[in-house]
Amino acid sequence: MIYDVVVVGGGIAGLMAAIEAKKVDNSVAVITKGNIFKSNSAMASGGINAVLDKDNITQLNSHINDTFNSSKGLGDIKSINYMCKSASDIIAKLQDYGVEFDKDKEGNILQRPFGGGSVNRTCYVGDKTGFAITQALIKKAKELGITFLVNTYVLNLARYKTSVSGVVCLRRSDSSVLVYPAKSVVLAGGGYAGIFRGNSTNAQDYTGDLLAVCLRAGMILKDMEFLQFHPTGIAKTNYLVTEAARGEGGYLVNSDGQRFINELETRDKIAKAILEQQQNDKEVFIDLRHLGLEKIQEKLPSLFNAAYNQVGIDISKELLKIKPVAHYSMGGVDTNMGATNIKGLYVCGEMAANGVHGANRLGGNSLLEGTVFGVLAGIKASKHAQYNDFLPIDYNDVIKDIQNIDKIFDGETSKNFNAIRISLGKAMFKKVGIIRSKTSLIKAFDYIKYLRRESYSLHCINKEKRNNVELISILELRNALEISEAIILAAKKRKESRGAHFREDYAKEDTKYEKHILIKEIQKGFFRLRHEDNSILTKIRNLFINRMD
Ligand code: FUM
Repeated sequence: MIYDVVVVGGGIAGLMAAIEAKKVDNSVAVITKGNIFKSNSAMASGGINAVLDKDNITQLNSHINDTFNSSKGLGDIKSINYMCKSASDIIAKLQDYGVEFDKDKEGNILQRPFGGGSVNRTCYVGDKTGFAITQALIKKAKELGITFLVNTYVLNLARYKTSVSGVVCLRRSDSSVLVYPAKSVVLAGGGYAGIFRGNSTNAQDYTGDLLAVCLRAGMILKDMEFLQFHPTGIAKTNYLVTEAARGEGGYLVNSDGQRFINELETRDKIAKAILEQQQNDKEVFIDLRHLGLEKIQEKLPSLFNAAYNQVGIDISKELLKIKPVAHYSMGGVDTNMGATNIKGLYVCGEMAANGVHGANRLGGNSLLEGTVFGVLAGIKASKHAQYNDFLPIDYNDVIKDIQNIDKIFDGETSKNFNAIRISLGKAMFKKVGIIRSKTSLIKAFDYIKYLRRESYSLHCINKEKRNNVELISILELRNALEISEAIILAAKKRKESRGAHFREDYAKEDTKYEKHILIKEIQKGFFRLRHEDNSILTKIRNLFINRMD
């Protein structure tokens, strides 16, 4: 099958892009590697930031300032302005698509406080905002006649000269390799915080597959060292204890019952403060008891159920033990307002480094960024499809993918992919986690190199072609290792502490590093890194990036 526009990723950014592209008379398909109802977007709980009155310049400036301050000097003012100014229209669009935000008696959308925000600007649907939005968008997409190709895993991009010509995929149901030709492709496959398996709010398959696809297509990744650790995951299960719990008045207390930080500080500061408590042999809890059962059930019903079902804690009566967990990747594919240096290819959502988050993301801005830039990518992809034709597919590249899959099936191994995957998650959290140093990063790099070599001798023990879980896990693992190397190298190059990146051997922010770190894989396993200034050079570079606006 061929489609004018192929969107890869069924989270909020991908769905918004697909809906926008479909509004013009394009054939549009959304490809997802798994269940569309279980994207990271669907798990985002607390809310979406917006200044609802777009004529309120003071409030708009305050949102822009909070976002920029949170980025610690690495935010791109053009992207931030665009995102904040688009927010009220996006909320209206979402309402139009059927999202029912919580409202007061007069019918005004309610807004709660979130960390790092100077006013209450986070719109919400209880504590299941992401789920509610995703549901509405899936419904809308289906009504519009968008095709969903689920259980389809993207192996690589098909390219013709300097343009994209489609995507090369693995159909999981029978392990066959197939190509979907497309005039435009939007990548919206989510971030890479799932690499930190065992200490991450993300589903374990959020390991940056599409970032690895982009690396292999010669594209540049940016600021990969910036990984946000959410202060509060349920200690035993990693379930996200939404920031809304603190926004609604929850306290953080240690095992002596003492509060030790302002609960609405930015996430980096709170995560580090919790880690320090843990290093001093103190456990950390969220205390919601004073909110009372009624308020908890009204504002935090999902958390109430999860705590009870997962760890048997009634949060209206008991403390809930928490720990910081990898949550969101600020780094990603270098884009200019969604456009890339491959014609017809657009990138949006968490996997895009489009400049709105810089070194640290403001809570509540992820759903906003996904929706705003998803729409923009959809519009650009649609325009490109209108003015350009299908391009040839280079079947030599496709054959390489087929041979790679055959090789994984054909060989024998005694090695266990799952053991390597678990070990990767642990090593990354311990050595490339909230606190890093040159020593920890070098150890991590050597270990990941070793795992990467091991991963190339992995084969499927089970040779069954139908829905082979081993096959997909081996492919994901190889991508995760490629991305882990990029994270470590970038973290090593950034010899300072900024935003979510903390180096105990360079504990202060250093103006000399008020720069992006760009990384490119020049050949398998060999990366080239360079700094990029966050001002004039960025603007010059952007002139050379494909622009459709
Ligand atoms: O805590 C949360 O509900 C997460 C929100 C976000 O990442 O923006």
